Parts: sequence; structure tokens; C-alpha cells
Amino acid sequence: MKKLQEIAEEISRNTGVVTSAKDVEKILSASASTNHFWEIITLSQKPFPVVAEAVEILRKEGFVAVTEEKEIKFTEKGMEYLKEQNIFPKRTYTCPHCEGRGINLSLLSDLIKKFDEVTEDRPKAISDYDQGFVTTNTTIARIALMAERGDLEGKKLFVLGDDDLVSIAAGLSQMPKEIVVLEIDDRLVDYINRKAKELNLPIEAMKYDFRDKLPEKYIGYFDTFITDPPETVDALELTIGRGISTLKGEGCAGYFGVTLIEASLEKWNIFQQILTSKFKVAITDIIYDFSHYVNWDYLLTTVGKPYDFVQVEPKLNWYRSSMYRIETLKDSKGIENVYKPVEIYVDEEAIIYKGEKK
Ligand SMILES: [Fe+2]
Repeated sequence: MKKLQEIAEEISRNTGVVTSAKDVEKILSASASTNHFWEIITLSQKPFPVVAEAVEILRKEGFVAVTEEKEIKFTEKGMEYLKEQNIFPKRTYTCPHCEGRGINLSLLSDLIKKFDEVTEDRPKAISDYDQGFVTTNTTIARIALMAERGDLEGKKLFVLGDDDLVSIAAGLSQMPKEIVVLEIDDRLVDYINRKAKELNLPIEAMKYDFRDKLPEKYIGYFDTFITDPPETVDALELTIGRGISTLKGEGCAGYFGVTLIEASLEKWNIFQQILTSKFKVAITDIIYDFSHYVNWDYLLTTVGKPYDFVQVEPKLNWYRSSMYRIETLKDSKGIENVYKPVEIYVDEEAIIYKGEKK
């Protein structure tokens, strides 16, 4: 029988993503506790292409079988393998009240209700800009987190890209003094400005491509920024660098989500070095699985290689990201200049296959 290490090497070869025997173990453990492909990703927290390739190899080895309903089930041979490798079904003890965020949302039920009412007619997520917005509970938890850390009330907030409509939630909370949104999608810019006007919220949204230079007046202007970046190294570096350069100086904060679904720990390591060594900020929080994303319509039409078991509608909000909070120090420095990398949305760890046009 194949060793975990051999499976890991095969995955690395076929995907171009560095994969270890422990990664394979985690995917096997997740697969042992659910039959649903998308939930295997949520439970294993490994990059999409790695999980898909792992399942394909397990199938070829006869360890799992895929049913007509695209359920992934262990065969007797597979069960034997789990036992032999000392691998157990993934255990989950996440607090069901806060979904693991550690935020008491019952104190914010009015804001949740208001936000849902106000944003009922929000624009749909589209693939052009890697969109996919988060659940209302996630959005409100972000507001609560920023407020709790002292980064929101009476403060100037910068939102870089806002398909999540964090600006509207922040405006409705009546906590920030001023909110500015820079966003590439005209539909969202218009939507946010219209809502701000109708509801008399202190928000201004403008069209902006984060590869362009920031408007001069916003350099060193804000107390706090929040963004939910695409996850190539270039995009992570650039968006967070932009955010940092808009902050007033030391003691300011930035918030952003990073997944393990489109970013391996190898990428986390490169990015964390950029944060600490290049930008010279401190990472104060990484809250695991803080953001849950509402399933987006274009998922199944854009997923990479044609593994048939991937073509199944998700049953849960499977796509999650961890929440990073960084704080600026006296020597922190972001990115102000023009920057035009060739590709900002897709690399070998992305859900959308590199070779395909979006
Ligand atoms: Fe909790």
C-alpha cells in the first residue's frame, strides 16, 4: 500500500503545491468524518487543488469510492488503510453560539436585522474581481471585533474593496467618524454611495484599482483599514501594503482575511515575513475561520481541473478565512507607488484553475 509520503509527493507533482504527509493525513481524517467534498475542504483546511488531487488519488488507489450523488465514501480497503496509518475522523468542538469567533452577537441583534434589511438588494458576486461575500454574522462580527479592539468608535475607517458591505454595517453601527471605500466594481461603488445617501451614513465610495497609486489625500489619513484580499502573494503584499500606507502612524490597525483554502502555509510564511520584515508591523491576532462566505453562483463553472466529484452543490458555507489583525509600529511602512503585477487573482493554489480564463 502507498505510504502517506508517496501520496503527498504525487499531489505535489500534480498540483505544484508543496504538500506533506501530515497534510494528506489531515485530508484523510476530514474525509473520514464527512462524505461531502466541500466539507472535506472545510475540515482539512488544505488548498482546494491539494484536496481535490488527494481525493482523486484515494479513488485510484481504491481507498474511497464516489457515489452517483458524488458522495465520497471509504471502501473496506480504505478503512483498513486508516486503521493501519493510525488516522481518526476529524473532531470538531467549535462553539455553536459564536461559530468560533468569540464574539457575542446577541448584543448586536438590532444591527444584524438592520443590515439585512438595508442590503437585501445588494449586487451579486461576480468572478471578474474574485468576489464572494461573507455572511451577515461575519460582517457584524467584524464590526464588533474592530470596536472591541478600540479601532472603530470615533475613528476614520478605510475599506479597500467592499463586496462584503462592511462600510454599510460600520455606518449603521454609528461608531466611525468617517468611512472611505475604494472599490474596483462600479456596481458596488454606486450601490454603497446610494445607500449612504438614503440612510445619511458618513460613507464615501470611489472607484479604484489597487494596482494604481492611492489618492494622495488618503496617505497617512486613517486610523484603521479593513480588506479581504485575493490570495496570490502579489495581491496580499499589495493590498496590505496599500492599507498600511493609509494609516496615520504607529498604533493603528489593519484587518484582513487569509484562507488556508487558497493559500498554503508556505504562502502564509512568505506573507508573514513580508508583514514583519518589510512592512514592520506586529501581528496581534489570527482568529481561525472567523469569516464564513455565502456560496457564490459561479463556483461550479470556474473550478479547476475536471474532477467529477467536485461538481456538486455545496451544502454548507464551506469557504472560510482566518482574520488577521496587524498593528503599526514606529517604523512601519506600506506601499504607495504604482504596482502592476501581471496576475493578481490566480496562482496554483487558487480554486479557479490557472490555465483557464475567468
Ligand atoms: Fe462562543
